[in-house]
Amino acid sequence: MANKSNGEKPTLTTRQGHPVYNNQELRTVGNRGPATMENYHFFEKMSHFDRERVPERVVHARGAVAHGVFEAYGTIGDEPASAYTRAKLFQEKGKQTPISIRFSTVAGGRDSSEVARDPRGFAVKFRTEDGNWDLVGNNLPVFFIRDATKFPDFIHSQKPDPVTNNRQDPNRVFDFIAASPEAMHMVTWVFSPRGIPANYREHDGFGVNTYRMVNAAGEGVLVKYHWKSQQGIRSLTAAQAAEIQATELGSATKDLYEAIARGDYPKWELNVQIMSDDEHPELDFDPLDDTKTWPEDKFPLRPVGMMTLNQAPDNFFAESEQIAFGTGVLVDGLEFSDDKMLVGRTFSYSDTQRYRVGTNYLQLPVNRPVVEVNTNQADGTMAYHVDNRGALPTVNYEPSVLAGHAEADDSYCEYRPEVAGQIQRAPIDRTNNYQQAGERYRTIDQWERDDLVQNLVGELKNCKPILQEMMLEHIYKCDAEFGERVAAGIGVSLPASVLAPAD
Ligand code: HEM
Repeated sequence: MANKSNGEKPTLTTRQGHPVYNNQELRTVGNRGPATMENYHFFEKMSHFDRERVPERVVHARGAVAHGVFEAYGTIGDEPASAYTRAKLFQEKGKQTPISIRFSTVAGGRDSSEVARDPRGFAVKFRTEDGNWDLVGNNLPVFFIRDATKFPDFIHSQKPDPVTNNRQDPNRVFDFIAASPEAMHMVTWVFSPRGIPANYREHDGFGVNTYRMVNAAGEGVLVKYHWKSQQGIRSLTAAQAAEIQATELGSATKDLYEAIARGDYPKWELNVQIMSDDEHPELDFDPLDDTKTWPEDKFPLRPVGMMTLNQAPDNFFAESEQIAFGTGVLVDGLEFSDDKMLVGRTFSYSDTQRYRVGTNYLQLPVNRPVVEVNTNQADGTMAYHVDNRGALPTVNYEPSVLAGHAEADDSYCEYRPEVAGQIQRAPIDRTNNYQQAGERYRTIDQWERDDLVQNLVGELKNCKPILQEMMLEHIYKCDAEFGERVAAGIGVSLPASVLAPAD
């Protein structure tokens, strides 16, 4: 046999460490069978193979991981970082924190096209001295919905038809959107050229939701995060994308790893927008509404640091399939706001990961923090080590006078906002669903406007008349010209309701 061990290659073994002398043939009675039952090597090999897949992510299934470093400026704009946050990773100029990032598309399955019209996930894990901080964002600054309760329905409308499992269906997509006008701002992004980034390097990233920063004095501010691509922004038309995906589904992953391999390390600058922590009645939108951007003339971008990606993963499954990000993964000085999407997201991520990857997903090398973990949590499927228990390992509870862990000092106390109000289920007051969508339509370049109109016409043409009518009403309310152009493109009249003179 050509492949027998001669000292040059490591000897093939089972997972039990037994050398395997024949990996080509079943053990059989005679060389024509039947096969015998004591084929441990075969059973181990086949049953492990049978379990090779974990469920793909319910959203963002297609993606690629890279590793790198975040270097802090020590400042937030012109001020010391400490003015706004006590988060350790931001305090000193030049301080480096290792990071991992996973880029993704949203709606498609694990092997779907990377030039789909879809937001791109932009999830960064900072491995800090205070534990992990995940900033789980997208390449577009706003989102389709503002209340987490709507998310499963929204995603169902984006996924293939549940009866035929056929492709995304515009009748299902626009059925949901027609009844969810808060999506109109996001529609003007996703159906514009920005909806198909050329690759994972040439797009920005955004935290989208509103977070808080808290300083050492316990003072909080509201924050939006922006990652500015140092490679610039480049997008594809639907025709260019169709041409690429005819021969290559993983074009963005390929582009990313080729750039890293040739030493052309991609970079993004982290910027924040800051607002005082209150309701801001002077604004025509709610600062906790993720369907809105904060105007940069009023809330300027303030640079915080630079991220560089310089390492591709060694293994797709271990690092991309098993990596687990979540919006609840925050470090001291970086906190939640009451953004109703953010709160719902924070339940969803670790919940899905305990199911998708397993109870002990945080023990995996790609997920565990770089600091020592001291908990009294125990056991569960596939536990492979016990967290540090201190001097007396029998003490797996707290408090204890004998041994165990001590709580951190009170400087780690979270922000303590005052909250009062009636508990209820109700929309926010300042919904203002159309204004920023219209402003965006009017401020993008003419070719982007043309592309946006063309893409919407292309989809709405295939929709039922009731959906065309409802969508045209929404589009017209964003901008009259926008509505007129889409109606003309579809070849229908604008609905009478929008043309009726206002009372
Ligand atoms: C209530 C709203 C949302 C819910 C319930 C939700 C839920 C989820 C779930 C269950 C996953 C799969 C996680 C996994 O299997 O590891 C996921 C992934 C992801 N979500 Fe969300 N999501 C929401 C909104 C958003 C928004 C607004 C953004 C962007 C700011 C976002 C960005 C991402 C990203 C980037 C990933 C992929 C993370 C990775 O690469 O592993 N999600 N989301």
